[in-house]
Amino acid sequence: MKDMQNSPPPRHRARLKKPTWIIILVSFVCVFLVFAYIYPLQNSGACYIILSSNCNTFYSWLPPPARELSDDETASRIVIKNVLDMPSIESNNPKIAFMFMSPGSLPFEMLWEKFFEGHEGRFSVYIHASKRKPVHSSRYFINREIRSGKVDWGKISMVDAERRLLANALKDPDNRHFVLLSDSCVPLRDFDYVYNYLMYTNVSFIDSFDDPGPHGSGRYSEHMLPEVEKKFFRKGAQWFTMKRQHAVIVMADNLYYTKFRDYCRPGMDGRNCYADEHYLPTFFHMLDPQGIANWSVTHVDWSEGKWHPKSYHEKDISYQLIKNITSITESVHVTSELKKKTMIMPCMWNGINRPCYLFARKFLPETLDRMIDLFTNQTMF
Ligand SMILES: *[C@@H]1O[C@H](CO)[C@@H](O)[C@H](O)[C@H]1NC(C)=O
Ligand SMILES: *[C@@H]1O[C@H](CO)[C@@H](O)[C@H](O)[C@H]1NC(C)=O
Ligand SMILES: *[C@@H]1O[C@H](CO)[C@@H](O)[C@H](O)[C@H]1NC(C)=O
Ligand SMILES: *[C@@H]1O[C@H](CO)[C@@H](O)[C@H](O)[C@H]1NC(C)=O
Repeated sequence: MKDMQNSPPPRHRARLKKPTWIIILVSFVCVFLVFAYIYPLQNSGACYIILSSNCNTFYSWLPPPARELSDDETASRIVIKNVLDMPSIESNNPKIAFMFMSPGSLPFEMLWEKFFEGHEGRFSVYIHASKRKPVHSSRYFINREIRSGKVDWGKISMVDAERRLLANALKDPDNRHFVLLSDSCVPLRDFDYVYNYLMYTNVSFIDSFDDPGPHGSGRYSEHMLPEVEKKFFRKGAQWFTMKRQHAVIVMADNLYYTKFRDYCRPGMDGRNCYADEHYLPTFFHMLDPQGIANWSVTHVDWSEGKWHPKSYHEKDISYQLIKNITSITESVHVTSELKKKTMIMPCMWNGINRPCYLFARKFLPETLDRMIDLFTNQTMF
């Protein structure tokens, strides 16, 4: 009797208490999941809370937070995807387009003539001379100027000149691969080596890497949102080589180009952003990351750690110098943070590790004769 009278109240309390605890527990788990969903990677602490050895498996059953693409983005992506998926048209006479960007005359025309000689019909030359009409010393360069515009260092007009060269070179359907060079560039290999390296690759050699420092993502502006997120912002030297499909998608792009034109420029938000170092590296990283090599086949020496790369003088030119550059088989990227991070990658060509470089800069005009001597020494190139 005593038991029967006393026992109901606690049982009754227990019945109330149990659902309350379940609700609290479920709410807690929900709040945790919502937080984990919103801050998947930043909140690495969450990994420790659930004591999972592999946090990724925990998130894999959650759909990624997707952003709805605008009409322009959808249109742009579908055009790009279709161009990339299209089988490339066979050409009976595939050529490489050498596109030179220069203020005026090209000091290395005679060296390039040695390079081109005997390979007529397998290359074409285009010149964008932004300041002065060039005086030519080689027959391969005569009448090869395209209509040009002013080029200001670090401004979008540099990208405009690149696009102008691509547009003109695309007019010839035999041009299958496109190389951008400057007036201080020299060839490091003979024509056949360069032709085969570029013609039989399935990627474009576009330099692109993630630099979280002030000279990389530090130049990013949130005005580029929503199309260009900071995590996709990349950096790279402008000296590219590009397969035809990639040249076509650069022509087709207006959306991303406009973002970089308007918001990646000197003085943007009190910082300097240089479109020629970020537009193509970011564009290709976003839209065809597997289609680019991530390094440039044009060598430049930044090892002096100055604002400008090393310029080669006549006294620097030797057999050993060229040998050193052509034997490099790894690409090196250094970030601009206080604690510089060095990233080294083997240069992979169709799955094989090969030398990275076909061209080099910045060579001063005074090196011309030495370079011609070296180049005509058949034993080395
Ligand atoms: C270039 O980098 C991207 C992203 O970092 C990567 O997905 C791609 O595989 C790289 N390209 C090559 C040829 O390794
Ligand atoms: C070539 O590379 C070697 C080894 O790294 C170095 O000692 C030498 O100074 C380099 N020579 C030239 C001319 O760059
Ligand atoms: C290029 O070729 C390599 C090796 O044959 C292959 O692994 C890679 O997926 C190819 N890339 C593209 C973009 O077709
Ligand atoms: C030509 O190449 C050989 C190595 O094969 C080298 O010993 C020689 O110095 C080079 N000649 C000139 C003029 O550079």
